[in-house]
Amino acid sequence: MIESLLRREVTGLPAYDPGADPDEVARDSGARVIKLSNNENPFGASPAVAVAVHRRLADTSRYPDPTGKRLAAAIGRTVGAPPERIVLGNGSENILELLCQAVLNPGDLVVTQAPGFSLHDIFPRMMGARVEKVPVTDGFGFDAGAWDQALAAGPKLVFLANPCNPTGVMLTGAELKRVVTGTPESALLVLDEAYCEFARPDPDYPDGLEMLRDHDRPWIVLRTFSKAYGLAGFRVGYGIASSPALVRALDRVRTPYNVNQLAQDAAVAALGDPAHLAETVRRTGTEIGRLTVRLREAGLRVAPSAANFLFIDTARDAGEVVRRLHRSGIIVKAWRESGYESFIRASLSTPEENDLFVRRLLEICERRDW
Ligand SMILES: Cc1ncc(COP(=O)(O)O)c(C=O)c1O
Repeated sequence: MIESLLRREVTGLPAYDPGADPDEVARDSGARVIKLSNNENPFGASPAVAVAVHRRLADTSRYPDPTGKRLAAAIGRTVGAPPERIVLGNGSENILELLCQAVLNPGDLVVTQAPGFSLHDIFPRMMGARVEKVPVTDGFGFDAGAWDQALAAGPKLVFLANPCNPTGVMLTGAELKRVVTGTPESALLVLDEAYCEFARPDPDYPDGLEMLRDHDRPWIVLRTFSKAYGLAGFRVGYGIASSPALVRALDRVRTPYNVNQLAQDAAVAALGDPAHLAETVRRTGTEIGRLTVRLREAGLRVAPSAANFLFIDTARDAGEVVRRLHRSGIIVKAWRESGYESFIRASLSTPEENDLFVRRLLEICERRDW
């Protein structure tokens, strides 16, 4: 009955996979849950966030500021952009959705990378667009020739994540430049930098905003407070757009109060504590390096990650690996894209939890009973 009500595009739309439910895993395993499935920040948000939110709790009867003026101004100061070029979202995923709603007609072409973030595929398909996915190279790198070819086909929208999710691999300046110059000037280029804070210490990580700043063509750089700032539960993301006109277009399709007031206050407070951010990035980088070495020494293939997660080839059915990890209370994602059926993506946590994860994963991979 319901199926006949649905738009054609919705009928075939895959559901977003948030990973296993921690309550269910806790119940079934009887173990303490270690959640490594959503690239969250195990070190928590700045203590200034709790202070700001607590202050606002005394005053929750008003609607939030619909344009998030204070937050947009704080972001603008941090990134060096005028507030009228900043759009706020209920998570950056909200902005991905708004961009598709504002720009895409049925049949339009969208280009993105594979493997990739599922919403770069799901939201365009929701609008009836065609999605062309450019595969990474065998070593998880940028395939310049394949990108040139895909961009030459005339997309209306390009989604590119740097660093990429799920591989964690970052594009160099030259690679990013190739996409920037290859994307038709009539198209909207969306550079998704959800994990940029983790990659920035690498001198080869290009500042996408700096590169795009002087380009007279439509573009938007997306960032989020969910990852390095540790505010995933509040849902705040932002975009820095090529022009105020693009922000105004997104305003027309977004719900008027899409970012709640507690979230706006939390994000302002988080931005005001760069020392906490730096410490999160430092600790994450140390763990990424340590775990990559350990897993590789154990014989597993691991993509070189500039983010806060690892893409690991278990060389066996990843679904079964994940089920066995669940029995120990450990939640990671089995990757579902074709060609990656033996891969898991594991977010980094504290050293203690990371050690438990690695030990259990290696035990599972060493067993010969399957
Ligand atoms: C590449 C990428 N972009 C965007 C998002 C959305 O993040 P949020 O909506 O929490 O800002 C994610 C989340 O995992 C991501 O991996």
